[in-house]
Amino acid sequence: MLLELRDVSKRFGGLQAVTGLSMTVAPRTIHGLIGPNGAGKSTVFNLLTGVLPLSSGEIVFKGERVSGLRPSEICRRGIARTFQATTLFRESTALENVLIACHLYAATAFVATLIGTAAYRDKERSVPRRAARGTDGAGERRHHGGAPRASR
Ligand SMILES: Nc1ncnc2c1ncn2[C@@H]1O[C@H](COP(=O)(O)OP(=O)(O)O)[C@@H](O)[C@H]1O
Ligand SMILES: [Mg+2]
Repeated sequence: MLLELRDVSKRFGGLQAVTGLSMTVAPRTIHGLIGPNGAGKSTVFNLLTGVLPLSSGEIVFKGERVSGLRPSEICRRGIARTFQATTLFRESTALENVLIACHLYAATAFVATLIGTAAYRDKERSVPRRAARGTDGAGERRHHGGAPRASR
């Protein structure tokens, strides 16, 4: 199993937002989490990504317990998220916005960056290629929409 939630609960003071949720995600499958407003969907994603600590239960990703780790540590292991209210850098193009999100893939040691090792140069070339695939031809466009709707 790629991802496993075991009897996960979250309590906010007197409010029980998630109660004993167990679910699994197999590799190469796509899932949706549905439910009415206030059902606890966003809370589940906050628990999954370490934004909020669990009240009880555990989350296992690729055989390793990730509940209790920091968001950055969970992200490095491969769980990333987007937020419902997207915030883009308006002065940047679509491609540049994707490049900013790609910095995790481009992580190189400071010294390697400084002296420009072959590995560093390879990464500098591969990240924009990867980002360009993601923007699918819209890379040069800038964001012209109105203010994003604030929503959880
Ligand atoms: N950080 C928080 N502090 C206190 N209560 C919260 C917090 N986040 C969510 N809640 C409450 O938990 C419940 C589930 O909310 P949420 O996960 O946002 O639901 P959904 O995303 O399914 O609409 C709601 O009653 C909400 O008010
Ligand atoms: Mg929500």
